[in-house]
Amino acid sequence: MSDRESDSAGPKRIVVGVGGGIAAYKSCALVRSFTENGHRVRVIPTESALQFVGRATFEALSGNPVHTGVFADVPEVAHVRLGQEADLVVIAPATADLMARAVAGRADDLLTATLLTARCPVVFAPAMHTEMWEHPATVTNVATLRERGNIVIEPASGRLTGKDTGAGRMPEPEEIFALASLLLERPSALPRDLAGRRLVISAGGTREPLDPVRYLGNRSSGKQGYAIARLAAQRGAEVTLVAGATAELADPAAVEVVNVRTAEQMREAVMKHAVDADAVIMSAAVADFRPATVATSKIKKGADEPNSIPLIKNDDILAGLVQARRDGTLAPGTTIVGFAAETGDASGSVLDHARTKLARKGCDLLVVNAVGDGKAFEVDHNDGWLLGADGSESAIEPGSKSLMASRVLDAVAGLLAPK
Ligand code: CTP
Repeated sequence: MSDRESDSAGPKRIVVGVGGGIAAYKSCALVRSFTENGHRVRVIPTESALQFVGRATFEALSGNPVHTGVFADVPEVAHVRLGQEADLVVIAPATADLMARAVAGRADDLLTATLLTARCPVVFAPAMHTEMWEHPATVTNVATLRERGNIVIEPASGRLTGKDTGAGRMPEPEEIFALASLLLERPSALPRDLAGRRLVISAGGTREPLDPVRYLGNRSSGKQGYAIARLAAQRGAEVTLVAGATAELADPAAVEVVNVRTAEQMREAVMKHAVDADAVIMSAAVADFRPATVATSKIKKGADEPNSIPLIKNDDILAGLVQARRDGTLAPGTTIVGFAAETGDASGSVLDHARTKLARKGCDLLVVNAVGDGKAFEVDHNDGWLLGADGSESAIEPGSKSLMASRVLDAVAGLLAPK
């Protein structure tokens, strides 16, 4: 597969195709995200998409003319040129009908003609009722599109039009934008290599209660773990995300989310779900200590005010996983991944500390973030190293947390026991 590590920072030509479904209204936010990030966007709706969102809206948001038919811009030969010149095509929403027409190779409107001429990554973000999504015709069409190298995003579960709920909801625009941006950074970032695998991923920080209104917490936003979970699901894995406190992140599409607060709750949830997992990725910032006692009523100023908070140690979940694999509670082939946020100091560099931690924790892979100077915490960018228990060491280039997630999952995919 080509790995055109493109100059992702520059503006790109993006075609946003819009199918005729109610989720078409969400494509407006997607178009806006692309233009706000400096990309050149052409919106190509189907005729039926214009029943949901007017042409003027798409023209205003993209700053470009909007046509649906192949005869609209004949001197420009738009039906060939738009596809040929695109760096990325994103179809959102992709209806069952539109995917069927794409599979059949139809070219009876500007969007399907564009699909036939595009040579860049093409992403379909399906949106339809659960029955349509699960229909054998759609299942076959999705498989065919994937076989041909297209990316068909897993839809979310949740509320559909009206009172229905189930799989088939279009992922939120932010999520489609994150995946699309990753493909611009790294076109080969979304293989289906984790299909049939079960992954447990922890993310966010834990909160250790002190009294009914206070807790000890940390600055973890959860963004890195959520990016890994989102990407793992889109690479075909069945994912359980054990989520502590985060910066109010939305649940990633097609991911089971288990919300926890304390380190002890996180340990219980991770251990429970790890039992039949192929890999466990501990990206959470777990509190090492908790208050020794939790006051049942609010701690007040005054005569009884405390002047210190006695702490006790929390169990190390990562070390517990390694131990559980050793004593047979977890399958011997379970891949265990830890994270380390390190700063260099007088006693050693970031990498020195990370090598020591990898040996101490006994996991298979340690993802190392260099922190300090505003790096890693609460920001959208990350860089670091991957250290393997086999002595392998590779640097992760600076980039988005999605890019880092894709590097971590590449390494994990390489470590998984053969099926
Ligand atoms: N971790 C864990 N349980 C804990 C603390 C940490 O599972 N109670 C996991 C984290 O999720 C991460 C890894 O251990 O994957 C590294 O965490 P870190 O806090 O950096 O390691 P510590 O062993 O606490 O080392 P340090 O002395 O540097 O704090």
